[in-house]
Parts: sequence; structure tokens; C-alpha cells
Amino acid sequence: MFKRKRDGAPAATASVDGDGRPALLVAEHVRKVYRTGEIEVEALADLDLTVHQGEMVAVMGPSGSGKTTLLNCLSGLDDIDAGRVLVAGQDLFAMSDAVRTTHRATSMGFIFQAFNLIPVFTAAENVELPLLLAGVGAKDARRRAVEMLERVELGNRTGHRPNELSGGEQQRVTVARALASRPAIVWADEPTGNLDTQMATQVVDLLHELNQVDGQTIVLVTHDAAIGGSAGRLIRMRDGRLVDDEQLRQSGDPRPDADRAGGGLRRCTRTSPPPLSSCSGPRWPSPRSSRCAGRSSASSRCGRSPAAGARRRS
Ligand SMILES: Nc1ncnc2c1ncn2[C@@H]1O[C@H](COP(=O)(O)OP(=O)(O)OP(=O)(O)O)[C@@H](O)[C@H]1O
Ligand SMILES: [Mg+2]
Repeated sequence: MFKRKRDGAPAATASVDGDGRPALLVAEHVRKVYRTGEIEVEALADLDLTVHQGEMVAVMGPSGSGKTTLLNCLSGLDDIDAGRVLVAGQDLFAMSDAVRTTHRATSMGFIFQAFNLIPVFTAAENVELPLLLAGVGAKDARRRAVEMLERVELGNRTGHRPNELSGGEQQRVTVARALASRPAIVWADEPTGNLDTQMATQVVDLLHELNQVDGQTIVLVTHDAAIGGSAGRLIRMRDGRLVDDEQLRQSGDPRPDADRAGGGLRRCTRTSPPPLSSCSGPRWPSPRSSRCAGRSSASSRCGRSPAAGARRRS
């Protein structure tokens, strides 16, 4: 695998990367302390991180190193004790709770290990719910939900409830739900933790497709070294700190095993993802607005060699 490595925590100062793409997420000196009675746990310690548009960043580290806390704090799901987090230039923790909630609903998607689907809702209802909460009209929300389920190859399961779906299918529903509002960034916390190898492969392939075809920015926590190694960038945490940051390949370059990927995303269209003409939320720029990606290998749709893409992050 091609990679270049740097030691120590990354500085969150670069506003564009080597390709000139803007920083989508900038975390500066973030500190998070959990207090339980007399006990304090510093789950994030003076953490800096910059994620650029179109990156797929894997986060690894031992249990308790702060990976989930990182996702929760950088997405604004949880409060921080110090520092700041900018998403598309907007300071998450300078917003009121209500504004931050709306910002999160329109700019971020979430995929968790526990699928967190509502059991009495159908797949389509689960996917459309966040859109309805964000103010999208019922008809448009349903159309969008069905489109997204078709994109994850569940167009024939829109009326199924979670207990009528396999684990892999349920997780693909959560991927569709995460993407329905066309978020700027998708956070995934051990999305394959509850899946067997085959289903995990489908879900990981799907995330890669979304990153490589649509340029979807994804931050993915995993304990699986193969999954971590297949991302564009791998950061490692220990004791609430980023201790390593490796650029494994340039965003847009195919992952090394792309030819073997089974894929899980319906394609090919010139307008991928489907236009969200009815969404009332903000429009987030996509680094690759329109690409045609057939079933053939990812390498056939990217002219750049992995070696050409390596660079040291700053
Ligand atoms: N709500 C909480 N209250 C108190 N301490 C917490 C809370 N959540 C997490 N912690 C502590 O913060 C530290 C980081 O936890 P976190 O869940 O972020 O780790 P993790 O890297 O995601 O671990 P895992 O790989 O096991 O999921 C741990 O020491 C944990 O015990
Ligand atoms: Mg965790």
C-alpha cells in the first residue's frame, strides 16, 4: 500500500489541501472531560484535526482512546470543554443549541454500530424522517427517501420494517438515511461492528463508492485494520490525542482493492447523487459534482495513479 507517514498530531491550520480543496472541518485545541463523581476522564486532550472536502478518514485506536468522543464532539452531538470546531467555516459551539441542531441535521449524516432504526417504521419512513424534521415536505421527503434506498440497492425493500431486513440491509438503510439530506460530512462509528464479513464488505464498499463517486466526505471509526487501511487517510488516537496521521492515497484515487469490490451502490448516472431539488437545507458543495462511474473498476474512472497522489499533510 502506498503511504507516507508523519508523526505527531496534525496541526489544524491548513485551509486548503494539496488539491486546493477547502477544509470542511477544522478542530482546534479541542478538550473534552467527562466527570463522574470525583473522577475526571480527559477523553480529548488539546486535539487538532483538519478534514478536507472529499476525504475519507479512518480513525483507529485502542478501546477508550476517545474515538467515539471525537465523533460526538466534532459533530456537535456532545459539548466540548475547550477549543473550537469549524464546519464549513461556521463555529459549531458559538451557535445556540437550536441552531447547532439544525446545522447538524442539514450538514451531517450519522451511521452507528447499532443501526438506530425505528422498528415500527418502514425503510422509507426511517430514511425520510430526518428530512421531515428538517422541514422538507412529505412528498419530496418520500421521493428522496426512495431515491436514496434505490441508490443503496434497496429499492425493493422500501416497505420493509427493520426486523424484515438483514443486518447488512439495515445498515444500508442507515447509510441512505445519513445521506438523504445530502450532508457535507458523514460520521460513521464502527458501522460494521454488528455485521458479518460479507455484509461488512458490502457496507464498506458502499462507503467507498460514495466517497469516490460522489466525493462524499466521510469520517469513519473502525477497529478493523483492513477497513482503516483502505481509507484515504488513517489517523490513530491514544489517550484522547491524535498520535499518528497517514495519507494512504489521494482523495479520488482508487483504493488498492477497488477492483475486487463488489459494490453496493446503484449507478451509473451522470447526475450522481440525485438532485435534492426539494431540500430546504443548505447546499453543500461537492468536490465531484457529476461523474459517471460504471460497474468497472474504480481505476478506470480516475486517471491519477496512487503514487501521484501521495503527499504530506500540513
Ligand atoms: N459518558 C461518559 N461518561 C464518562 N466517561 C466517559 C463517557 N463516555 C466515554 N467516557 C470515557 O472517555 C474515554 C473515551 O471513550 P470513547 O467512548 O470515546 O472511547 P472509544 O475510543 O470510542 O472506545 P471504543 O473503541 O471502546 O468504542 C474512555 O475512557 C471512557 O471511559
Ligand atoms: Mg467508541
